Amino acid sequence: MSVIRAFIAIDLSPEILQRLEQVSVQLKTRLEGVPVRWVLVDNIHLTLKFLGDVSLANVEMLKKILKTEVNEHHAFEISVGGLGAFPSPHRPRVVWVGLEAPSELMAVQNGVESAMARLGYAREERPFSAHLTLGRVSRNAMGRDERLIGDAIEAIKLGFLGVARVNEVHLYKSDLHPNGAVYTRLSTASLKE
Ligand code: 2AM
Repeated sequence: MSVIRAFIAIDLSPEILQRLEQVSVQLKTRLEGVPVRWVLVDNIHLTLKFLGDVSLANVEMLKKILKTEVNEHHAFEISVGGLGAFPSPHRPRVVWVGLEAPSELMAVQNGVESAMARLGYAREERPFSAHLTLGRVSRNAMGRDERLIGDAIEAIKLGFLGVARVNEVHLYKSDLHPNGAVYTRLSTASLKE
């Protein structure tokens, strides 16, 4: 049975991506030699739901259900800014830029999670935490690397980067390659204006 690796996400405006690029360059420069896999800026998005393996036979049904669910919700704006790390800046595994999550974002994420659960995709155990991943810290990182990352996050003091209007949600396919994932958009669902 053919499967693809898929996820559901929101894209950001070119203006926000440009600002994220500046932050990413700043971090990379400060953290030269620290083992972090930096995300290509064009690949940065806000993930609503990671589906993992999706059978090709289910893709059309999934697209339809996603469209119906997303169309129940209104378009909204997100405010992007702030720098942090999961699980914490002292023990960084994922370096991220934050965003203010309006209730509409929470509602559409929750709706998508429930619609996908009805299709059989496991619910996320952790509560949704809206973030934009800039980099993933390698398993080989040492205590010294973690301190450097924590210090960089602290020193950059990233403020507000901008506001993005969100009126669409996309289904993406992810192909893993040795030098990074390649994301291909499979469908787009519109929010109500
Ligand atoms: P992240 O930004 O929080 O790392 C495609 O892989 C997208 O799905 C990534 O942006 C990633 O979100 C998200 N994702 C969530 N859970 C995942 C998992 N278990 N494996 C891979 N990606 C995951």
